[in-house]
Amino acid sequence: MYEICPETPADTPEVEALYDLCFAPGRTALSSYRLREGVARVADLCLVLRDPSGTLMAAIRYWPARVAGRRVLLLGPVAVHPTAQGEGLGGLVMRDSLTRARTMGFARVLLVGDAPYYSRFGFQRLDHVQMPPPTNPDRVLGLELRPGAWVDLSGPVQREPGPSPDVQPAPDSTACVQVAHPRKPAHDPTPTSGSAADH
Ligand SMILES: CC(C)(COP(=O)(O)OP(=O)(O)OC[C@H]1O[C@@H](n2cnc3c(N)ncnc32)[C@H](O)[C@@H]1OP(=O)(O)O)[C@@H](O)C(=O)NCCC(=O)NCCS
Repeated sequence: MYEICPETPADTPEVEALYDLCFAPGRTALSSYRLREGVARVADLCLVLRDPSGTLMAAIRYWPARVAGRRVLLLGPVAVHPTAQGEGLGGLVMRDSLTRARTMGFARVLLVGDAPYYSRFGFQRLDHVQMPPPTNPDRVLGLELRPGAWVDLSGPVQREPGPSPDVQPAPDSTACVQVAHPRKPAHDPTPTSGSAADH
């Protein structure tokens, strides 16, 4: 079985290495990182997926942000190890983390990415929400975890205000879940290439 757990400080170097492997150099120079700098992650929603041997195969992170003063979740980066892309592991961590976010009471999620990928999870273009430039407006996507949560919400995405503790509360390790591998590659296990989302 595979296991999905909240990321702990012990996981972080491996998660950073996975992101470095999956994304172009300079990933932290992207405009979305300006919203994350100095802001604590939403620890309970930052997840790692390990295979039965304990190898890190996927990771996803979330940050808090604001639009028109309302709380939004900023999703990303999400990455799957290149040797396992296209096997459904990205979908697993997307769906598991979004379910956790809904359970925690979050109303809406925002990301910058490829609509053809993220639409399968229900994300749609947000016409009236602006990420810091330069960001292609076609890639600014939102998901309602609560019906109507994005209706009439517009304006620039802003950093979460307030203090940003250096040390986050340790995630509850009992929040791990065992999951079956979603699917084996049918024939050609060619890894998905390119970048689905800015990160
Ligand atoms: C994008 C990513 C997270 C998806 O995870 P994954 O485990 O490979 O994806 P899944 O197996 O869940 O889904 C595969 C499906 O998504 C599609 N897909 C993957 N990336 C896509 C993209 N950029 N645009 C459109 N569709 C995409 C595949 O074609 C496949 O379609 P199918 O189900 O019709 O066969 C992963 O490929 C990855 O890490 N890519 C590099 C890093 C990246 O771009 N991360 C996102 C930025 S935050």
